[in-house]
Amino acid sequence: MNVLILGSGGREHAFAWKIAQSKRLENLYIAPGNAGTALCGTNVNIGVNDFEGIKKLVWEKGIDLVLVGPEDPLVNGIHDFFLNDEVLKDVAVIGPKKDGALIEGSKDFSKRLMEKYKIPTARYKSFTKANLEEGYKFLETLKAPYVLKADGLAAGKGVLILSEIAEAKLELKNMLMDAKFGNASATVVIEEFLHGIELSVFVLTDGKSYKILPAAKDYKRIGEGDTGLNTGGMGAVSPVPFADAAFIKKVEEKVVIPTINGLRSEGIDYRGFVFVGLMNCNGEPYVIEYNCRMGDPETEVVIPRIKSDLLDLLEGVAKQNLHEKSFDVINEIATTVVLVSGGYPEDYEKGKLVKGLDAIKESQVFHSGTQLKGEDVLTNGGRVFAVTSFSNNIKGAVDKSMKAAQQVQYDGKYYRKDIGLDLINWTS
Ligand code: AMP
Ligand code: GLY
Repeated sequence: MNVLILGSGGREHAFAWKIAQSKRLENLYIAPGNAGTALCGTNVNIGVNDFEGIKKLVWEKGIDLVLVGPEDPLVNGIHDFFLNDEVLKDVAVIGPKKDGALIEGSKDFSKRLMEKYKIPTARYKSFTKANLEEGYKFLETLKAPYVLKADGLAAGKGVLILSEIAEAKLELKNMLMDAKFGNASATVVIEEFLHGIELSVFVLTDGKSYKILPAAKDYKRIGEGDTGLNTGGMGAVSPVPFADAAFIKKVEEKVVIPTINGLRSEGIDYRGFVFVGLMNCNGEPYVIEYNCRMGDPETEVVIPRIKSDLLDLLEGVAKQNLHEKSFDVINEIATTVVLVSGGYPEDYEKGKLVKGLDAIKESQVFHSGTQLKGEDVLTNGGRVFAVTSFSNNIKGAVDKSMKAAQQVQYDGKYYRKDIGLDLINWTS
């Protein structure tokens, strides 16, 4: 099989690394990829939203399957583009069409889906410019802190959590009347604040059946002890000690089954990954959000834990015979620690020379923001690497990732030294 992966982050390197191990693979292409994906296949310098460029590549290289990494091309309709094109319509695309991508592209849509199919989530209401006053009144019925969400994609910044009602009202006005997040905040979801511990569960579906992949916890804030600005993710751990088999069974019954059936009932033929962001509230799962793709850096711990051939599962999605497939999971614990550029998630510099990668023997380094220049690896983004390690306990895995994090060298390197430490007491 000839495979094309779209994207350029650690998630895509983890996919490329795994798919490169498949016996079914003939050629692997990554567009645009990074210095890490270049070790697994051929990088092609085409952007993920350049659908015509992608079409040409798929045609020229005889690609059989396209795995879409990020949400952007999915929300923009890449799968629909393939289905509506005579040349591309038989090429398998892993990732939902525009209608399915709405689970991430519109918070209002995803909340309505949850409400309709009785999927546990925070109580909410949606508001537009026309009913700002009602929004103020709804806020008064809630207790602090107040959660405001821009309906559309806002580069991960569209959720505000505010402790004072006056502040919440002001921000609601900024979002609706002054387009704080542009068109993305033309509709705003206001919801109840959920108290609990967060985790993510990943589902692969062919639209009919599904597989629940390993769960993960990620670390979103830039600073140790979960402080400072939000980032794309600074580390991840899988499995999650507070999501035991009984909890995952609840997630399956209360969330996964009604979500997959609900999408189908809505006439949405969803083929791809569903990322379910959950709050574990005293042992009960509540959905915080859905994403129409895998997480980054969660993929860098979830995918390495899958022992079986990923291409076989993806083919099951494409051919809608996922129910005939099975997969095995490595029972050890995987941790990943993300190394970023100094200044991230605000301004940072690129183009720093990376050294020390060859010395790392006990961990797998996934590249996020890197590029090759001749033989040199240069930094090329805020998140630069995700260093994944395995052990039979969290401490052992984290220690390996920390050791490797020290060995990688570039100007301005920063990483959190507390990834997974909050979970150590949960295991024994
Ligand atoms: P989202 O973009 O929907 O994932 O929201 C970003 C973050 O805000 C989540 O990862 C949670 O930490 C937090 N969050 C979102 N909604 C809620 C909620 N209803 N209650 C508590 N925290 C929330
Ligand atoms: N790590 C969170 C995400 O991928 O959205």
